[in-house]
Amino acid sequence: MNNILLETLNNNKTKRPPVWFMRQAGRILPSYQKMKKKYTFSEMMEHPDLAAEVTLLPLSSLDVDAVILFSDILVVPQALGLDLEFKSNGPIFHNPITTLDSKRIFKKNITKLDYIYNNIDKVKSINNTVPLIGFCGGPLTVFCFMFRGVNPTKNFNDAIKFLYEHPKQSKYILNLITEVSEEYVEKQINHGINCFQLFETYCGLIPQKKYESEIMPFSKRILQKAKGKVPTIFFPKDYGLGIKNLNKSDCDYVSIDWQMDIFEARKILDNDIGIQGNIDPRLLYSSYQEIDFELNRIKKFGLENNNWIINLGHGFLPDINYEKARYIVDWVKNTNWRR
Ligand code: CP3
Repeated sequence: MNNILLETLNNNKTKRPPVWFMRQAGRILPSYQKMKKKYTFSEMMEHPDLAAEVTLLPLSSLDVDAVILFSDILVVPQALGLDLEFKSNGPIFHNPITTLDSKRIFKKNITKLDYIYNNIDKVKSINNTVPLIGFCGGPLTVFCFMFRGVNPTKNFNDAIKFLYEHPKQSKYILNLITEVSEEYVEKQINHGINCFQLFETYCGLIPQKKYESEIMPFSKRILQKAKGKVPTIFFPKDYGLGIKNLNKSDCDYVSIDWQMDIFEARKILDNDIGIQGNIDPRLLYSSYQEIDFELNRIKKFGLENNNWIINLGHGFLPDINYEKARYIVDWVKNTNWRR
């Protein structure tokens, strides 16, 4: 097993920080673009051979220290009866929640996620030396997307209005999302994931205090299912100063978004929690000179902090040049971290 990521997650000193990228599976890789000409997103996600191949592509093209399962956070609503389709402009549900659904009943069918465990088994059977990261979406992010019907818009006004207008029904839905996610995480662990990340991309849609009191208890339940079994990383994007209140019993690492300064994040975050992040993905549109400048700035962070995983502050954008990502990995590996 390439242990640099797992050693770091377990608070052991390593020669250099580990590095991987959010949304590294697929997306920017030319090898993935080629596969996309032959197969649809759903085909690649549902066939173990293809899902495993895409999961492992970043190893050869980017030389990262871990792989993340090729799947999506929107598979969880499928287990609640929502009919998901990945269109060229993004995912949609054919039977989304609407503002009229204050009494809608959802039935759980957790077996809908069974195909994903075959994908984990397949990855493990091909490569058991690289750490495999499993994941699911945060409760608020998944809730918001469940309102995304055939006319996809990026704003989640209806979902947030529903949260305020129908708190009881919202709690019922959030609880169902959480129950499915808890079982989903547990099974991912049983099938051999080595680390678990919770992607809560849309914390910033509601006040921090509202997230903390109404949503965080659900997020913590999901993280708790993995805690103590595999290391956990929580990515609460745009949660701002809310990260102050997290502690080691909630998660092992917090993934910091690109909005927050990493040195400031270190000051306010519990000392026992490690940091992942937080390179602005748009930096990869810049020149190599600009990239070098920023890498030299964050190098200081790595000289002072052993519990740091180098990653982005949000996923790769689709039109990023993968060679610039590879350049960052090479830099991490060739830098003298004086450890
Ligand atoms: O990190 C990885 O590469 C692992 C797999 C992964 C995907 N999506 C595959 C995917 C992960 C971890 C996700 C998370 C995800 N999916 C989030 C949370 C993290 C984040 O980046 O905000 C969200 C909000 C989604 C929902 C989603 N999936 C959207 C809005 C879209 C369409 C627009 C877009 O961002 O590309 C997807 C499609 C999707 N999921 C793609 C991939 C590789 C792109 C499809 C393609 O390139 O063919």
